[in-house]
Amino acid sequence: MPAQGVDMSIPIDNATGSKPTVAIIGAGVCGLGIGWRLAQAGARVSVFEKSEPGRGASWAAAGMLAAQAEAEPGEETLLELNLKAQQIWPDFRDELEDAAKIPIGYRDEGTLIVALDRDDAEALKFNFDFQSKLGLNVEWLSGPEARKKEPFLTPNVTGAVFSPSDHQVENRDLVDALRIAFSAAGGDLRLYTEVTAIESAGGKVTGIRCGDEVTPADMVVLAAGAWSRGIDGLPKELLPPVRPLKGQVLALRMDPSAHLLRHVLWAPEGIYMVPRLDGRLIIGATVEEKDFDHDLTAGGMLHLLRESWEAVPGLDELSIDEMWVGHRPTSRDDAPILGPTEMEGLIMATGHHRNGILLAPVTADAISRYILDGDVPEEIAPFGLGRFAKSRKNKNKPIDFDAARTKLKQGAA
Ligand code: FAD
Ligand code: GLY
Repeated sequence: MPAQGVDMSIPIDNATGSKPTVAIIGAGVCGLGIGWRLAQAGARVSVFEKSEPGRGASWAAAGMLAAQAEAEPGEETLLELNLKAQQIWPDFRDELEDAAKIPIGYRDEGTLIVALDRDDAEALKFNFDFQSKLGLNVEWLSGPEARKKEPFLTPNVTGAVFSPSDHQVENRDLVDALRIAFSAAGGDLRLYTEVTAIESAGGKVTGIRCGDEVTPADMVVLAAGAWSRGIDGLPKELLPPVRPLKGQVLALRMDPSAHLLRHVLWAPEGIYMVPRLDGRLIIGATVEEKDFDHDLTAGGMLHLLRESWEAVPGLDELSIDEMWVGHRPTSRDDAPILGPTEMEGLIMATGHHRNGILLAPVTADAISRYILDGDVPEEIAPFGLGRFAKSRKNKNKPIDFDAARTKLKQGAA
């Protein structure tokens, strides 16, 4: 079944009588999700991926679908998008599992955020009051009530917020499912094919370049995650303000018959624990301004283990399964960058920061809808690249694409 509201008719180019071709840069959850929706609608769509599908942030993530418990003052517009994403996730899961014929490890036990001392409890209560006033589905629990839900929590727990609507998914299975569904729907996946430049003429996209080879396209979707500024061919005004935000993560192995935890659990200091159905316990994550640094550090692991152990002392018995580093695609205001740009045919789907797994379905539906019928869906209207033009000198002046191209060529010479 197509996504609700998606017009499955593709505009026909009257001059040639053919359907438009779409090139998507990046096979993370965003690129693959959009590609899947377009392929379902019969578009000619190719996804270009410089390595394996979904081995960027989409692989590194913890898979929390946490629109409510992480809501903070000042992010109300983003909250609306996050809530919309959360609402459509169950249907998206059903449709994807059906199309790909594999489960994606969705768990709906909910999320607990715990306080371990008075200071934590006050900060948590402040956020809880804010979330309650917005009508979010959150509940305040005493320490003993929290321990009833998670018996292995430390007796020091002083209070907790329970958020039953904040679920989780196994994001690596999600990537696999999207890849399978995309190909099954007729999408063309080009692996180990790095896009080196976006080609354009007269302010309109004409295709993408991979080394010496140019592939023509009517529309190009930039979904290259943290690498989205690294592709040549765009004037600087159209480079999305996205940077890598490093996160270190580790996974412990729980006894599958006696899982230590069932809910997603947030401990103080921004540390979370995400118990998977297969017995893995994901513990994340650091938040580091370190560019594309890939190093796992003793300090990073110590921080994750110390803070999680304070909340759940029993985890020191568990074996270490894996440790890794990922790079969140973080925009200047922490919100995603979605929709068309001043260059005709160039569409952004990047900058999803800490919520790209949560936002994958809404990104896929909204961007594909824009490509299919030409209207920017209401839910993504506040998230266009144009919002950053506020800080641009001469923001009302259209971009002079010819001058920008000459400058780019001179820079390359
Ligand atoms: P990516 O998954 O990074 O995909 C981009 C792809 O583009 C990559 O595969 C890359 O190889 C490819 N690419 C780049 N440049 C080129 C090029 N020139 N040519 C071809 N291909 C190219 N979100 C949540 O919702 N919940 C969470 O619990 C969560 N936890 C996280 C924990 C960590 C440690 C991290 C790092 C992120 C987390 N996130 C979480 C955020 C989430 O992972 C991202 O927002 C999301 O995966 C972004 O998806 P994407 O498709 O835009 O990017
Ligand atoms: N959303 C979890 C993280 O970014 O670490």
